Amino acid sequence: MKGQEVLMSSGDQQGSSDWATPKPFFDLLNQAFGPFTLDAAATAKTAKCDHYYSSRDNALEKPWKGTVFCNPPYGRGIADWIWKGYGESMLFSNDLVVMLLPARTDLKVFHDCIIPYAAAVLFVRGRIQFKLPGKKNSATFPSMVVVFDKHSAGCQFGYITQPTRTENGGVRVLTGLEER
Ligand SMILES: C[S@@+](CC[C@H](N)C(=O)[O-])C[C@H]1O[C@@H](n2cnc3c(N)ncnc32)[C@H](O)[C@@H]1O
Repeated sequence: MKGQEVLMSSGDQQGSSDWATPKPFFDLLNQAFGPFTLDAAATAKTAKCDHYYSSRDNALEKPWKGTVFCNPPYGRGIADWIWKGYGESMLFSNDLVVMLLPARTDLKVFHDCIIPYAAAVLFVRGRIQFKLPGKKNSATFPSMVVVFDKHSAGCQFGYITQPTRTENGGVRVLTGLEER
């Protein structure tokens, strides 16, 4: 029942459904899975792609064409976003849907949609520092990256580290999937 999916401490805090993905973390996903052509849930200020949907557009009622990044609002109704991401990923007009989500493995949607239909679930090591304008907030919850890809068969589980600097100024990222 979707009513049970009253979620995340994040979504319950005022304004937190607007928390923006830190640019380095988005860049990492963009490099691994992009280039993304659509940010499905954003504002003009937080949009990670030129083409984006805002609450005024209502992404839940729009087509998600191309290679899609989605960090949805984390409140009630997040299951609708996850089912939408999966559904759109099955269409020919869609290449891939990558969602940044709270790692709530107790949710019905995790068991009914993500485990059966996702191509990959990457649990994020550490806490992401989401951003509100003028503020920086470490998440009070763990995160995961969920990839929906109609060409995949079965779900792979791994982890992803947040980008860190190496001694020579490069960026280091680890994913459990690559290491296997
Ligand atoms: C967690 S924020 C992510 C922002 C940005 N995409 C990022 O990752 O930095 C979720 C965004 O979705 C927007 N939003 C809420 N309802 C929406 C809807 N029905 N359609 C599209 N965007 C929506 C919110 O205004 C908010 O900016």
